Amino acid sequence: MAAAARTARLAPRLASISRPAVARAGVSSVAQRAAFSVSARRTKSEVIKETEVPVTVYSPDHKGVASSNSDHFSIPVKNGAASAPEAAAEDLDAVTPLQDKVYRQMPRTLQKMSVYGKVIIVTGGARGLGNHMARACAEAGAKAIAIFDANQELGDEAAAELHQKTGLPVSFFKVDVRDGNAINAAVQNVVDLYGAPDVLVNSAGIADSNIKAETYDPAMFRRLIDINLTGSFLMSQSVGRAMMAAGKPGSIILVASMSGSIVNYPQEQSCYNASKAGVIQLGKSLAAEWAKYNIRVNCISPGYMDTALNKVPALDAQKKIWKSLTPQERLGAVDDLNGLCVFLASDASGFMTGSNVIIDGGYTLY
Ligand SMILES: NC(=O)c1ccc[n+]([C@@H]2O[C@H](COP(=O)([O-])OP(=O)(O)OC[C@H]3O[C@@H](n4cnc5c(N)ncnc54)[C@H](O)[C@@H]3O)[C@@H](O)[C@H]2O)c1
Repeated sequence: MAAAARTARLAPRLASISRPAVARAGVSSVAQRAAFSVSARRTKSEVIKETEVPVTVYSPDHKGVASSNSDHFSIPVKNGAASAPEAAAEDLDAVTPLQDKVYRQMPRTLQKMSVYGKVIIVTGGARGLGNHMARACAEAGAKAIAIFDANQELGDEAAAELHQKTGLPVSFFKVDVRDGNAINAAVQNVVDLYGAPDVLVNSAGIADSNIKAETYDPAMFRRLIDINLTGSFLMSQSVGRAMMAAGKPGSIILVASMSGSIVNYPQEQSCYNASKAGVIQLGKSLAAEWAKYNIRVNCISPGYMDTALNKVPALDAQKKIWKSLTPQERLGAVDDLNGLCVFLASDASGFMTGSNVIIDGGYTLY
């Protein structure tokens, strides 16, 4: 566009914009000095309440090429608190796999944040958080997904659904994470089917709550530790060995809990809390030991999440207390770990190992 025509088009907008914006646009050094002296006169206690916000917008031309043209205008500022943006309706059931064509067009930063071409094992992937992290990995470019879970029916359904929705290779292994031999056989089968795993997301776990320590049945205590802690170890050991044997870098993500760092209130659940503290420390120890193999190990520690694990009538009254103790005043949604999971699985988190990332709506701030 010719300079004269552009100036004519912008004239009405320029007339209405505030001084600092005009100064930035280089319109007049006198105006610039005036704007500076106005702001310099402001005292520290003064509340800034502009009535308009100067804006400069740089847009590509009609061919999508960067241009030196810019638009200057002001937007009015409304008084009063901003109203909360309306939540966009989202189809949580949709799973859209990342197409090769789209991946190739993505900028390098976004490519690194994907899990393009990676083989991913997700335990506890039959339902809940694990299932949604598996879906997220499928959307973020996974080459193949293997779900390990003790629940045959739900596991089969979950794998069939994910395959139908994405067309990706998805398999289900009915594996109890307490069973080292079964895990080894299943991991070897994943290697045979898809190649060595690049990522393990260990989400299988159980929770016993509202049990007083003084009356805790030792057999129940041992069972929970066996699933949550020993299961995390056995899965990491088996997948870690497969990564080492293939000489492949890898990322292991252990789902711990904020209960590994704080004591929940009001429910008494010493065993669960101890198991998750153990998972966090296991993750750190493996991270230190396996850095030499280029295997990273990190923990995700969720706060209260709205999953079947917590959909127990006995917990209804306590949920109100949990929400009131959470700055965001809600439980986490079942897909609220997805972004963090993909990031930790991706090469974008390449320098991150031994971390425990709490994702809890702010619960642990109080
Ligand atoms: N929901 C929460 O509020 C919350 C909070 C913090 C941490 N977590 C942790 O997140 C993980 C997932 O929780 P969720 O809410 O999705 O639970 P969930 O009960 O919905 O899903 C857990 C899955 O793990 C499987 N599983 C259980 N025991 C197993 C075993 N021995 N071997 C193999 N699979 C087994 C189950 O069949 C199920 O599919 C758990 O480790 C849990 O401790 C959950």
